Amino acid sequence: MALRVGIIGAGPSGLAQLRAFESARQKGAAIPDILCFEKQADWGGQWNNSWRIGLDAHGEPVHTSMYRHLWSNGPKECLEFSDYSFDEHFGRAISSFPPREVLFDYIKGRVEKSDVRKYVRLNTVARHTSYNEDTQEFTLTVEDLSTGTTETHIFDKLVVATGHFSVPSVPEFTGIKTFPGEVMHAHDFRGAERFAGKRLLMVGSSYSAEDIGMQAHKMGAASITLSYRTAPMGYHWPWNTVERPLVTHFDGGTARFRDGTQGDFDVVVLCTGYQHKYPFLPSELSLKSANVLYPANLYKGVVWQQNTNLFYLGAQDQYYTFNMFDAQAWFARDVMTGAIEMPSLAEREADIQLWLERQAGLTDHDAEADYQSDYLRELINATDYPSFDLDAVSQLFKDWMRNKHEDILGYRDAVHRSVVTGTVSATHHTRWLNAMDDSLERYLEGPSQDVDGGTPAAVTSSVAV
Ligand SMILES: Cc1cc2nc3c(=O)[nH]c(=O)nc-3n(C[C@H](O)[C@H](O)[C@H](O)COP(=O)(O)OP(=O)(O)OC[C@H]3O[C@@H](n4cnc5c(N)ncnc54)[C@H](O)[C@@H]3O)c2cc1C
Ligand SMILES: NC(=O)c1ccc[n+]([C@@H]2O[C@H](COP(=O)([O-])OP(=O)(O)OC[C@H]3O[C@@H](n4cnc5c(N)ncnc54)[C@H](OP(=O)(O)O)[C@@H]3O)[C@@H](O)[C@H]2O)c1
Repeated sequence: MALRVGIIGAGPSGLAQLRAFESARQKGAAIPDILCFEKQADWGGQWNNSWRIGLDAHGEPVHTSMYRHLWSNGPKECLEFSDYSFDEHFGRAISSFPPREVLFDYIKGRVEKSDVRKYVRLNTVARHTSYNEDTQEFTLTVEDLSTGTTETHIFDKLVVATGHFSVPSVPEFTGIKTFPGEVMHAHDFRGAERFAGKRLLMVGSSYSAEDIGMQAHKMGAASITLSYRTAPMGYHWPWNTVERPLVTHFDGGTARFRDGTQGDFDVVVLCTGYQHKYPFLPSELSLKSANVLYPANLYKGVVWQQNTNLFYLGAQDQYYTFNMFDAQAWFARDVMTGAIEMPSLAEREADIQLWLERQAGLTDHDAEADYQSDYLRELINATDYPSFDLDAVSQLFKDWMRNKHEDILGYRDAVHRSVVTGTVSATHHTRWLNAMDDSLERYLEGPSQDVDGGTPAAVTSSVAV
């Protein structure tokens, strides 16, 4: 009997797993019986945007945390699939920081070309899993959301690819209950147009706080205050943006901060991150972790330490994204088929500890980018995933971070060079700050003058051209 593989989630990680098997099939290998369950009506994960908040049409939690006017926050050259380039998909050079719809199109292009749609059951949510130690089989119960019927499937290997930026972490602050304005978590943010003229308080000091804050600035917010728990982001913010230490409490519409300052606000956006949550798994199979580059309990960041028939993809904090999910999926595939032999429990634990110890010593973004590059290198060296210049990508991450520090509103106008094709990205026809139409059609329109009359250009000379 062929190996039976179940994949939960058809976002970039689940699709990487399908693509990994498809790649083996194209090379003449026999591949397992595969079934992939996706609760949404389309594949693409976070990139399959929705206007809904709270619950979807079936009463399931809305998965996506993305929003209108979301543009890639890292250079696309850092996430490019090494077996499907941007040049191949678009037929020409595009800019380094495309909007969501453009990246969604790119993700879909590869899987549509690969003919893996037949493995995916859309509108089907994973509900419950059990593992039988004697037979070494998983029993997975799923619900077809369009009919309301449940089914049970048996698998030898199970891949969890459900993402970890969907279930919000929502802290409590004294007095927030009676804050008279709007309070929301970043997960429910769908667009900043309605923040024009408003005074915003963002709690958190990471990507969501930064990007939603700058979206609000772009859309005409009166002021943006970013409140940090551990450390300020320290960018050269626009004139109406400041950073303050953490909120201690609210008095009506006034927030008071740890440094004794205070401010009056109309809107509070809690950009306080997300939880790893796997309600379809029993606790002994369920990953519990903060958002870190190397979660404990995963050998090579992928294989569940206590049960090597269980795999997690994309469970890390992410510098790399699509290409890292690929590297992981190729690795998981080879473990499943036996092409990669599993070391003993003790050897795996020693390997995990080495990564955890090195992680504990990371002090800045540059070191973190190098760390994740080394992690990918180890995975890629173990499989036939097409290799690419990881040192060059690490350098791209460093250039990108420097660009952000030089110009937080302009870093997305920079151009970078692809390590897959050598193509230098196009300069986009409109600066990010002036781009008010994030559709694929507008993005792909030919060059036009920027609406402020200037010529869009790279923000710094440090870009990797
Ligand atoms: C606001 C935001 C902006 C981001 N911007 C960028 C960016 O600019 N560039 C970048 O590279 N990355 C970005 N990311 C990171 C993003 O998480 C990854 O790019 C990528 O989407 C992760 O892929 P994934 O497949 O691991 O998870 P997801 O994309 O989260 O996909 C998981 C899939 O699993 C499905 N699922 C969940 N539970 C179940 C269940 N019980 N049963 C069946 N299906 C289930 C979901 O519906 C979803 O389709 C962003 C993330 C967020 C939250
Ligand atoms: N394309 C885009 O433009 C875009 C936009 C938004 C998000 N994203 C992506 O979305 C993912 C998630 O980013 P994220 O910023 O939402 O999450 P995150 O990176 O995990 O950051 C969470 C933030 O919340 C803070 N926090 C957590 N609990 C807190 C508490 N109790 N009180 C105060 N602060 C608290 C953390 O502070 P500490 O530092 O103190 O822990 C941290 O600053 C990332 O992959 C990011 O790239 C991309």
